[in-house]
Amino acid sequence: MTAFTASAPGKVILLGEHAVVYGEPALAVPLFNIQARAIVRAVPRGNPGEMLIQAPDIELEAFFSDLDSHHPLKVALLAVLEHLEMTSPPACVLNISSTIPIASGLGSGAAVTCAVVRAFSAFLGQRLTDDQVSQLTYQAEKIHHGTPSGIDNTVICRRQPIYFQAGKPVEPLRIPHPFFMVIGSTGIPSPTGEVVSMVRRAREKNPARYNSLFASIGKIVKSARTAIEDGGLNELGELMNTNQSLLEDMGVSSPELENLITAARNGGAPGAKLSGGGKGGNMIALVEEDQAQEISSVLLRAGAVETMITRVTGWEAV
Ligand code: MEV
Repeated sequence: MTAFTASAPGKVILLGEHAVVYGEPALAVPLFNIQARAIVRAVPRGNPGEMLIQAPDIELEAFFSDLDSHHPLKVALLAVLEHLEMTSPPACVLNISSTIPIASGLGSGAAVTCAVVRAFSAFLGQRLTDDQVSQLTYQAEKIHHGTPSGIDNTVICRRQPIYFQAGKPVEPLRIPHPFFMVIGSTGIPSPTGEVVSMVRRAREKNPARYNSLFASIGKIVKSARTAIEDGGLNELGELMNTNQSLLEDMGVSSPELENLITAARNGGAPGAKLSGGGKGGNMIALVEEDQAQEISSVLLRAGAVETMITRVTGWEAV
């Protein structure tokens, strides 16, 4: 029986998280080391409209019709049906698996939804464009994150590095000189939606201070894009460090993140910062290729529960 399979990568925000929610630009890259995958299979003699969803990683086994109307999967599947002008799915089984850690700032929710939207629409006979998949994925992102900027679904569904600014055409980020990063996990959940709401409340109390933090981050992101295009690794590292200071001022860092960030810098990484929502989750360290293994060990010794080394590259790399 034909199975319709789709996968989607994780993501890393290089610079600009949180400020991007307020209209500033940010840089993000897909992370192919970790992936979400969705498989849809028809059930030939099943009851029309009966769709069984199996996601053993999150201990979910439920019929589509039984999912709460606010469940991100229900929202995503309904968005696909509506887009294709259908009212209910043919009998089928949707299987979901993912190697992307949940609530870690690495795009697990958006990647699962992106893979589901792609596989389900293909099963229904339509191969959607990356931008269509991204727009449908965004519907479920609103359930995950409240007021998402759209950067996560965009980088994940496009599967390419991006310079993202809400409301403007997405620009591919050129990376002519690939570089390496070590990602270190604090092992502490990063509830992106909650942290985004916390920043919103703080900004309501002190708009001038927060708007100025966001504007400073926006400037750093623009300089970082130039540094990446020029291969200025040290300059990029310094910009990451300044971005981290501003995220600390914003109140979204944590002692555990800062412990790993300091360890990476002391170990020789030219730049390190938190990545994603913050308050937990992952930090990233910019490294030279021959430093990567050592910085990974440094992070593990400093208490990281897991590390990942990744080569950040674009389509124009040689
Ligand atoms: C989450 O990956 C990035 C945030 O800026 C939220 C968003 O852009 O939607 C924290």
